[in-house]
Amino acid sequence: MNSIDRYAVIGCDIGHSRSPQIHAMFARATHQALEYGLLDTPPASFHAVVRDFFAHGGRGLNVTVPHKQAALRLADSLTTRAQRAGAVNTLARGEDGKLLGDNTDGAGLVRDLTINLRCTLRGARVLLLGAGGAARGVLAPLLEAGVAGVVIRNRHTWRAQQLASEFAELGAVVAAPAAGAAKKQQTSATPSGRAPDGGFDLILNATSASLRDELPSMPADAVGTQTLAYDLAYADHDTIFVRWARKAGAARAVMGLGMLVEQAAESFLLWRGVRPDTAPVLESLRGAKT
Ligand code: ATR
Repeated sequence: MNSIDRYAVIGCDIGHSRSPQIHAMFARATHQALEYGLLDTPPASFHAVVRDFFAHGGRGLNVTVPHKQAALRLADSLTTRAQRAGAVNTLARGEDGKLLGDNTDGAGLVRDLTINLRCTLRGARVLLLGAGGAARGVLAPLLEAGVAGVVIRNRHTWRAQQLASEFAELGAVVAAPAAGAAKKQQTSATPSGRAPDGGFDLILNATSASLRDELPSMPADAVGTQTLAYDLAYADHDTIFVRWARKAGAARAVMGLGMLVEQAAESFLLWRGVRPDTAPVLESLRGAKT
């Protein structure tokens, strides 16, 4: 039997996943002996593949689309952040064989924003586009980082309203009014849900629209000269959202490669007890892109 510690990413249509490359670089840099593979798995086989992986010595899995909710149900216990996110992106097998479900996406985003991009989250007025799993996963870490307020804007307004009320006890979160509602200017991001004067400090695209080359609708006054526009999606070329934000005059517009690397580092920390340095890995991935 293979005695080296085994890890993998599990998802569907993930042939181009960068996770194996990222974790191989982390392992080399931190002198950890481990193997990291890729399990391209359709939803119907998710449970069987995960059970088999852990039954044969697997130590941990990264879980990606579309299995994050299934992983939540499968885990024996959950971290608070996985519970709040309603999704699991990391599974870790304990010594007792039980599976712990964690979610490192939100922490990864906050680390990319604050450390790599040097963005000040304390007091920031944030527009969050989308109300699905990705949006849910980043809300609590953003509020904990001390943002002034979050306006959630979604194609189906009721989903934004539902999400806002679920997280209201953690901070100032409101849903943007439905398109066509009467307009009124104000200076803070809350409580009306409209753009503050001068635009938002941070706009996060947590919709899946970029994957289909579509742009979520946004008020024209959302972008100001100080705005950092961040697409949680990552592609080899600038997404339509990033191109739109640059044209609209945002100070910076970036994609989520940094978040991808930072959430991976958080998973690595959970599994191995050591936090890898992410800067050289990010640099290497950016270099490889061109
Ligand atoms: P994920 O886990 O990636 O967040 P999801 O739960 O299916 O996936 O949510 C996708 C999000 O992207 C939703 O907020 C969705 O809007 P609706 O709730 O109104 O469906 C949003 N979305 C997807 N395609 C979009 C598009 N073309 N324009 C705007 N929003 C879009």
